[in-house]
Amino acid sequence: MTKYIGILTAGGDSPGLNAAIRGIGKAALELGMQVVGFRDGFRGLMENRTIRLDRSALSGILTVGGTILGTSRDKPHRMPIGGKLLDMTDVMVDNYHKHHLDVLVCLGGGGTQKNAFRLMQKGINIITLPKTIDNDVAMTDVTFGFDTALGIATEAIDRLHSTAHSHHRIIVVEVMGHKTGWLTLGAGLAGGADVILIPEIPYDVEKVAEAIRWRSREGKGFSIVAVAEGAMSKKDASVIGAAEEKIEKAEDKAAGKKAKTELKKMESQYVGNTLRLSNQLEELTGLESRVTILGHVQRGGTPSAADRLLATRLGTACTDLINQGTYGVMIAIRGESTEPMPLKDVVGKRKHVPMDHPWIASARYVGTSLGD
Ligand code: F6P
Repeated sequence: MTKYIGILTAGGDSPGLNAAIRGIGKAALELGMQVVGFRDGFRGLMENRTIRLDRSALSGILTVGGTILGTSRDKPHRMPIGGKLLDMTDVMVDNYHKHHLDVLVCLGGGGTQKNAFRLMQKGINIITLPKTIDNDVAMTDVTFGFDTALGIATEAIDRLHSTAHSHHRIIVVEVMGHKTGWLTLGAGLAGGADVILIPEIPYDVEKVAEAIRWRSREGKGFSIVAVAEGAMSKKDASVIGAAEEKIEKAEDKAAGKKAKTELKKMESQYVGNTLRLSNQLEELTGLESRVTILGHVQRGGTPSAADRLLATRLGTACTDLINQGTYGVMIAIRGESTEPMPLKDVVGKRKHVPMDHPWIASARYVGTSLGD
């Protein structure tokens, strides 16, 4: 019996998505399966906007950045329609059946794993692949997109060195990552940043300034500070921590909603704020400081060789599992092999940088300040 596969890409785009689509699709066609892509994430599944993924659609996309399917951050149970947020999961399930699908493959980060799981709970077959430049999906060693972004952010830090050195300046470079510091820590370490600030380690701005002043005393009149989007000072972290606690302790749905809105407001006020950090460092050190926000350049362009390999391995492993009839899993990289992890065990978790991670130890050994 011919198997029918649906594929969608959701959440922020990530280099390697097309390589993964190609890996799934080409292997599926080899096995006599049929593949259809849904455009723009879960929105395309709801609106039944499709593209046939035949040999010609899958050709020439391995090296292309972004996603040929398009993506969105829409959530199946909270679709913005006519000014309201509506639960459209049933419509999506109907469209799955209209295409006689055997499985829907969802390529995405933590949010996508959750959304795919919601559809799975409605009785359809799901497989997910872990993609995000943040590298923060639980139960996999690594996600595709991370290596490419790591290369881009590292090159940016390399390039900032010469201009910071020439002008005897501090350059504060903001790297993506709202909740986790994998990219900032990796690029900071590889690029030789003098200070690395990540969400997992709340910083003390006075300690950061002292690390920079120490460098000046040692005759190094410039410093590179790599800061994650979501890095927070110790003071701000305690305010945010208290707001998070309010959500956990909320007695009913309304109180929970109110606490969540308060937290969002606070996050926009306290989290990140790289410009404020740069101004504080100018004041505390007497050195001139500049800010560089790397932003979406980190997600753009052709995937690295490592990401192409990873995405192709995960994609072909996915089709292999479909062929065996294994569903309800995320395909992870664990050590040298690809492994199916039960999706229910993946959702709702985030992979933070553990404090005993070798990158943290190495950063401290080479004298990099982590701001604590
Ligand atoms: O989830 C990946 C990511 O690139 C984060 O690092 C970043 O904080 C976020 O997406 C940006 O999202 P958007 O592209 O929706 O602005």
